[in-house]
Amino acid sequence: QQQEQQPLYRQLSLAADFYTHQLRQHDQRQRAVDYLKGRGLSGKAAKFFAIGYAPPGWDNLIGSLGTTPADVKQLVTSGMLIEKDDGRHYDRFRDRIMFPIRDIRGRIIAFGGRVLGDDKPKYLNSPETPVFQKNKELYGLYEARKIRQKLNRIMIVEGYMDVVALAEYGIHYAVATLGTATSEHHLRRLFKLVPELIFCFDGDQAGRTAAARAMETVLPILEDGLQARFLFLPDGEDPDTLVRKEGKEAFEKRLNQSRHLPEFLFDHLKQQVDFDSLDGKARLDQLAAPLISKIPRGTLRDLMIAELEKQLGVHSRAMDKINAADTSAT
Ligand code: GTP
Ligand code: MN
Ligand code: MN
Ligand code: MN
Ligand code: MN
Repeated sequence: QQQEQQPLYRQLSLAADFYTHQLRQHDQRQRAVDYLKGRGLSGKAAKFFAIGYAPPGWDNLIGSLGTTPADVKQLVTSGMLIEKDDGRHYDRFRDRIMFPIRDIRGRIIAFGGRVLGDDKPKYLNSPETPVFQKNKELYGLYEARKIRQKLNRIMIVEGYMDVVALAEYGIHYAVATLGTATSEHHLRRLFKLVPELIFCFDGDQAGRTAAARAMETVLPILEDGLQARFLFLPDGEDPDTLVRKEGKEAFEKRLNQSRHLPEFLFDHLKQQVDFDSLDGKARLDQLAAPLISKIPRGTLRDLMIAELEKQLGVHSRAMDKINAADTSAT
């Protein structure tokens, strides 16, 4: 299997070279350059992330890399070409800004491509291939570790441009999921590298929903010593727009003041119940206990139970029930 993958990596790397080359050479490169400049991207950042341009047209990449039938077949396998019913092939990525996605070792395994304007779909990602599993990979992780092998914390953001903009402003520890929800696999992987993760999604309803989901996903992984935090951005902002407005210092100040998971968990639940009433508190117990019980046994879990009981003013019967069910199950 390893041997079959080798040519794919090589071809994907050649594809990335092709796209970066087009950004410097192609007749129509000016539109792409203007777009990137308009978004405030420097040449240095573009180079560091190997950002490129897939020119308009159906056969640019195939014309350059698909010289033999074996090459064409591999380009289909790597997701770079699409095969039509009649057996002919065309370039998947056309007239898009290209973001190469690397694995932890730095090998290019896929691409994300953004339109230059407001067309839909805004982003197109490579399909799943033998070397690319969307819900396992994180954009920017290799690049972050290239700047600094030993990281203290990692920020998880939504988009490619967020990672690039943050790096541009000297925040070199952001990674993005590839248009998928944050998975347990992502989080386990990141916690092997750092003890602290900060979720920083867009300041919109989708971003807030994603944060609540990420909170639930991270609970079973939170061994004592690991921390998850949540930074909520002002409405309409994402990390890209905000760091450009405020700069590195203000952004890092926000990060340092971001909410710790326990605080977010209780705040989030209190929005769902009428906490000033006794029946509201009883409902809080019902909502909080299943979440808290997901946390591995340890000090954090004990403290969360103590906090719940402090808020309730009485012992948590919902926790009792869950514990009893656990004991009878084992
Ligand atoms: P910009 O408009 O370039 O700043 O993008 P953004 O990253 O701010 O976009 P948004 O917040 O809308 O989306 C966040 C991430 O979701 C993107 O970086 C993509 O990975 C993914 N995404 C957004 N739109 C699409 C889409 O149309 N198709 C797919 N497959 N993914 C998308
Ligand atoms: Mn968004
Ligand atoms: Mn954005
Ligand atoms: Mn966004
Ligand atoms: Mn108790």
